[in-house]
Amino acid sequence: MASTPVAREVPPPLVSGRPPGPKGRPILGSLLECRRDLLGFLRQCAREYGDVAFFRFMHIPVYVLSHPDDIERVLVTDSAKFVKSRDYRALAAILGDGLVTSEGETWRRQRRLVQPAFHRENILRYARVMVDDTDRAISRWRDDETFDVHQEMMRLTLEIVAACLFGADVSLHSGNVGEAMQVVMENFADFARMAMVLPRWLALPRTSKMSHAMRRLDAALFSIIQERRDAGSAGRARGAPGKGNGETPADLLDLLLQAQDESGGEMDDRHVRDEAMTLFLAGHETTALALSWTWYFLGQHPEVEQKLADELAEVLAGRAPTPEDLPRLRYTNMVLNESMRLRPPAWAIGREVRDPFRAGQFLVPPGTNLLISQWITHRDPRFFPEPERFDPERWRDDPIRRGTLPRFAYFPFGGGPRVCIGAGFAQMEAALILATIAQRFRLSLVPGQSIPLLPSVTLRPMHGIRVTIHKR
Ligand code: HEM
Repeated sequence: MASTPVAREVPPPLVSGRPPGPKGRPILGSLLECRRDLLGFLRQCAREYGDVAFFRFMHIPVYVLSHPDDIERVLVTDSAKFVKSRDYRALAAILGDGLVTSEGETWRRQRRLVQPAFHRENILRYARVMVDDTDRAISRWRDDETFDVHQEMMRLTLEIVAACLFGADVSLHSGNVGEAMQVVMENFADFARMAMVLPRWLALPRTSKMSHAMRRLDAALFSIIQERRDAGSAGRARGAPGKGNGETPADLLDLLLQAQDESGGEMDDRHVRDEAMTLFLAGHETTALALSWTWYFLGQHPEVEQKLADELAEVLAGRAPTPEDLPRLRYTNMVLNESMRLRPPAWAIGREVRDPFRAGQFLVPPGTNLLISQWITHRDPRFFPEPERFDPERWRDDPIRRGTLPRFAYFPFGGGPRVCIGAGFAQMEAALILATIAQRFRLSLVPGQSIPLLPSVTLRPMHGIRVTIHKR
């Protein structure tokens, strides 16, 4: 780990004009390069042209900001000068006015209302669901079996988020709702990818299967919301993954229904639906990816895998992990951190400039798109020596807290006012799942497979990750 991080001391003098960058082609700009190898292209931009680079994606001007100081200003210090970029707004066709897609006063009010549901004491109650669902999933695993671990992690985190959100009202294994959810979920990533490049009306969920599933899901959600409202506090006992004794809110949906702002205002049904859909879709794929990529790295690094198993044996001695164990599972957390450094599940954050903003030596005009990318900054050799090497030891001394690493050299969950609301939930979930599985199984990569990346809204393995499992 670099002991003296590179920070810019005095702001350099402003220069006029655009930052340097690839010239691109007439009309297309750098479209073809982006389509050929988006991650390679962006990294090359930063490497060749520096911390502030410029390219055109067809007619859209894009500034790529790679220095942690600039990233901090976009996400934290000057965050009021930006709105989310158009690819996020396109997702509103599915997510409505939920936290991921809303802006301004609507977003502020919703964030205030939803935030308490993610306070530590509220998310702790989901630990049991996380461990129990994992136990149930691995009870089906057979020694020497081979499968796609990404698919398996997606199935598991989907079950967990459905249970945490809706308790017993939604089972993914039976009935309309579970089925509709699966269809929406499976098509969401494709829709999101389309929405990044097409006008919104073209990218709308047009396939009849998807829109049919959306209608069914909406009808089911509104009816669950209505039932819960009718049942009042009595209904809260139902389906509680935690205590759920009628006084304690049972699941996230109940917390959303009970949320009140300072003036006593509540969410109407439409807002509750939008937030539930947002949490459902934002709340499982990213965590599944963090785990899938962790299995990938563990499969490549048996020495790390052994150290992880040793820690689990020492701290847990074969029993199920609880949230109280997590501070002592230090190496487990270091492994997850390092995995999200090299394979950040959310690999880029886009913003549109509303008020002029200074990045490095350049003044960025309103209307410009900014791209900041975990993929680029997390592998910057100024902050991570030998950046491609998977080395959990980088995280041993908590370099960000100790100030040896700039705060925004590593930002898997974003930062500032729009930081991931589910970060605590996801970190607890990933650690509990990893600890539960790695105690009982070792996963080895099926040899000879290529595991290309698919940078969509999230960073997926294009054809999954095939592993063989071995009982310990
Ligand atoms: C490893 C797992 C996860 C990663 C890497 C991740 C990453 C992120 C990032 C980078 C952002 C900020 C996007 C931006 O600024 O434009 C974000 C926002 C968000 N995330 Fe997560 N996330 C994860 C898990 C979760 C979970 C489990 C939930 C919910 C249960 C969730 C719900 C949200 C929501 C609602 C937002 C929007 C917050 C707002 O704008 O107010 N995420 N996430």
